[in-house]
Amino acid sequence: MCGIVGYVGGREAVEVLLDGLRRLEYRGYDSAGVAVLNGQGLKLAKAVGRLANLEAELKQNPVHGNVGIGHTRWATHGAPSVRNSHPHVSYDNRLGLIHNGIIENYRELKAELQGQGVKFQSDTDTEVVAHLVARVYQGDLLKALAEVLPRLRGAYALAMVHEGEPGRVVATRMGSPLVIGVGEGENFLASDVPALLKYTRRVIFLEEGQLADLGREGVRLHGPDLSLLPAKVHVTDLTLDAAEKDGFEHFMLKEIHEQPRALAETIRGRITDGRLDLAELGLTAETLKRVRRVALVACGTSLYASMVGKHLFERFTRLPAETWSASEFRYADPVIDDSVLVVAVSQSGETADTLEALRLAKARNALSLSICNVMGSSIPRTCDGTLYTRAGPEIGVASTKAYTTQLAAFALLAGGIGRLLGRVSEAREAELVQGLMRLPGQVKALLDKDIVAVKRCAKKYKDVFNFMYIGRHFNHPTAMEGALKLKEISYIHAECYAGGEMKHGPLALVDANLPTIAIAPRGGTREKLLSNVQEIKARSGVVVLVATEGDAAAKELADYLIEIPDCAEELSPILAVVPLQLLAYYTATQLGRDVDKPRNLAKSVTVE
Ligand code: F6R
Repeated sequence: MCGIVGYVGGREAVEVLLDGLRRLEYRGYDSAGVAVLNGQGLKLAKAVGRLANLEAELKQNPVHGNVGIGHTRWATHGAPSVRNSHPHVSYDNRLGLIHNGIIENYRELKAELQGQGVKFQSDTDTEVVAHLVARVYQGDLLKALAEVLPRLRGAYALAMVHEGEPGRVVATRMGSPLVIGVGEGENFLASDVPALLKYTRRVIFLEEGQLADLGREGVRLHGPDLSLLPAKVHVTDLTLDAAEKDGFEHFMLKEIHEQPRALAETIRGRITDGRLDLAELGLTAETLKRVRRVALVACGTSLYASMVGKHLFERFTRLPAETWSASEFRYADPVIDDSVLVVAVSQSGETADTLEALRLAKARNALSLSICNVMGSSIPRTCDGTLYTRAGPEIGVASTKAYTTQLAAFALLAGGIGRLLGRVSEAREAELVQGLMRLPGQVKALLDKDIVAVKRCAKKYKDVFNFMYIGRHFNHPTAMEGALKLKEISYIHAECYAGGEMKHGPLALVDANLPTIAIAPRGGTREKLLSNVQEIKARSGVVVLVATEGDAAAKELADYLIEIPDCAEELSPILAVVPLQLLAYYTATQLGRDVDKPRNLAKSVTVE
């Protein structure tokens, strides 16, 4: 949610900034802008809409210089417009600033500055920071920033340049991500590692409240009191290829096809000699003795993964498990104490609501774990242990491989904890292990078939206004995730119900114009779901049925049958969601939607 980049070195800053912004555009695409220093003042370029518009603007009116900052915006305060685009400039036109996050107390700060005669150029919360820093600036940007920080409330990653110090970029973060790229004779900053990979793999993850001072020759880290801090440089194993489309038309399609490899990576090293192995988490029967309940907190697609996670936890550990939308958890005064295991689930590791829910749980002494995809992000750094999903960078705004790898991670975690608690027999464990190991090949087989029925459905139903999705037990969340995928990238409305709920109201919606996507793989609720399908068919409904290969009854009932390989019901959500991802993808592309950047959305939701 908003991407920021910074550069200081010997190259044309604009080229580096645009390259970085291109890789961060998934974080917002309402507007983009850059500010560059070249010894002759601060040069700005901004454009509303996609980055391509800024590139066109820069072609017409180039700006040159070796130091600069850039921003791609997801609007929070103030409509998408040139005046609200970042970088924002101080009242004396000497300081340029970019921001990802929200300054919550901006109204009072703005009133104070206006009282002092400062004229505002935008409707954003960010602009106050530029003016506040300019007011205390006395030739040292780092010092001025440190002086202003105690006055800010909210979440921010901030980077700024000042024409009085043309070789310097200064940055800080609190609640929003910021990573520094360390080069030779040049240094970089960005919201996310892929924006740096073209130039360096040596990165420093800035900690909350730290300040970074970037010059051509080096990077210095400081505490809020400006004390010098040691910098821990990591060499990331991410590669640039992982952040490219690799011949696919969209990142989303590439990421759907990466699922076999991503699942294999998630499982790798976590099964030893045929047994679940969670040694990396340091969990023991002793540490788990205090746990009486499990609470799973997440948002969006990660929340649906957690709903499957709840069933996995209950099945394998026999501990009661509950699922919370992180934004609700925070304000519900949840009953959490040291007897609760809280698991925060997040692809990005930066989702503000999930992070805050985790902090609340920690403050109440819960044992905390996370399932996360981004190494070094805020959520893993906040909790007691993390099971990384190792799906690689997910750039399409609609989550796909993150979801299926979260499900695999949940199976490992719930099965592993169940085993430590002595509630999973060896035979049961062996069955789960075998099922997990077969998954990458099964997903590959599913994708290799190219699922002709999915493409036919997408073509047939792309012009309908509403879809219904139904599933039960393990696959009720699958139906929810399928409906979300369709909504977010095709903009077609989709409802989702547990199959058994249909007759309590939603059945009234059913007619020949409402396609129902029903998820009924082999398992305890298959027959019940097929009865729900009968009820829909009896009312002239059309049904696309996702069922296990060879299910004759399903074949007979379905208007369109999508077959998935046979597997244990606990793992079936991983296979069943794949055709639903593809259905959403092909529907959206047939409608000409911008699949990787759906309207009004952005990835990595770092605002509440
Ligand atoms: C939907 C989607 C979102 C995210 C949600 C949480 O396709 O991607 O619903 O799942 O914003 O994000 P993370 O997992 O990064 O916390």
